[in-house]
Amino acid sequence: MPVTSAPIRTAKRVDRFTYAIRNIVGEAKKVEQTGMTVRYLNIGDPNQFGFLTPPHLIEAVVKAMRDGHNGYTPSPGIAEAREAAAADFVSRGVNVSPDRVLITSGTSEGIELALTGIVDEGEEVLVPSPTYPLYTAVLAKIGAQPAYYRTDHTRQWMPDLDHIRSLINPKTRALVVIDPNNPTGAIYPEKMRRDLIALAEAHGLVILADEVYGDLAYDGAVPPMAALDNDAPIISYSSLSKAYLAPGWRAGWMAVGSSPRLDPALAAIKKLADGRLCSPGPMQYAVTAALTGDRSHQVSFRQQLRERADLTTARINAIPGMSCVAPRGTFYAMPKVELPKGKTDVDFVLGLLRSKGILTVYGSGFGTAPEDGFFRIVFLATPKELGAIYDDVDAFTRAFLGV
Ligand SMILES: Cc1ncc(COP(=O)(O)O)c(C=O)c1O
Repeated sequence: MPVTSAPIRTAKRVDRFTYAIRNIVGEAKKVEQTGMTVRYLNIGDPNQFGFLTPPHLIEAVVKAMRDGHNGYTPSPGIAEAREAAAADFVSRGVNVSPDRVLITSGTSEGIELALTGIVDEGEEVLVPSPTYPLYTAVLAKIGAQPAYYRTDHTRQWMPDLDHIRSLINPKTRALVVIDPNNPTGAIYPEKMRRDLIALAEAHGLVILADEVYGDLAYDGAVPPMAALDNDAPIISYSSLSKAYLAPGWRAGWMAVGSSPRLDPALAAIKKLADGRLCSPGPMQYAVTAALTGDRSHQVSFRQQLRERADLTTARINAIPGMSCVAPRGTFYAMPKVELPKGKTDVDFVLGLLRSKGILTVYGSGFGTAPEDGFFRIVFLATPKELGAIYDDVDAFTRAFLGV
């Protein structure tokens, strides 16, 4: 006999934890129940839009399984994947040895390992606004706080260095730089990257350089930030999820920069990594295959992304009351709608979902102000599908704004 019928209480940290990109799917399911088809433009998963994993990566995973590599691996990853990742970094100008590389369950796990290993409860981390929301979600879990620094849509979504400076205090521990950026599609010029490094160095901050879209800049791969200064304390991230079209495999890698100042962080991250045993083993063999094999799929992927980005920018900017900075990489755009007084980005996004079955994500899920009217579109659908989607966005927006 139970002593009580009361529900089991949950931890308070969950109240602080949000991840809008998936949280909003519940609303879409409700709309589907009414019989309406929903077009999911909320999650950046190229596989869902017909961009398929290169066959040689699949072969590598299948071969690993057939060859019996189904046991636990060393916690930081198999030697050959760490060596391949280190060699890839070296080829891009980052001097890092394999023992400073960890193979992780996607970039996501690497972010969690670093923040957990470096940031104490009550401390602060500088994250861009808008940001990829995993950073704030992990900070909520570990009891630390995000300090949102402005990136400015009137200046191609560039970080506002003065604003960053104004936010730094003795509790600040790290600076997150997402470049190429999700959700804005921005790419930072070298001067901006150097200024960010100088700023971090002036205040003893570690930089988390999120470079999962590094190979998806339309003009060709952008170098890792760490290549600009091998002595700066930079942790670099990438994965198979985006540029290698295998997001479900949960295979990523991180390089803890060669600065001796990062030795304690490397030790802390490895200690934490021991506790989760290892990332999925067979997929680690695909990391080697990806980083040592043919990457020609990226050329056509980039071309197709550019075409979709151009279409998105042209169509969105033609809608009265809406504007969009042209993305220069990634598969995201962050348009702005001039909201009527009293309306929020959530009103707009839910209205678009309920009226036209188009699921996007409100900017406030990425840290922008609800009244600023930003929302994120994933533009991986075919140009023909996108054309129809933007017809619907146009019609809905005119009705919503009464123009
Ligand atoms: C900026 C950014 N960082 C990290 C991730 C997580 O990537 P992964 O699948 O490698 O964990 C994403 C996924 O969308 C992302 O956009």
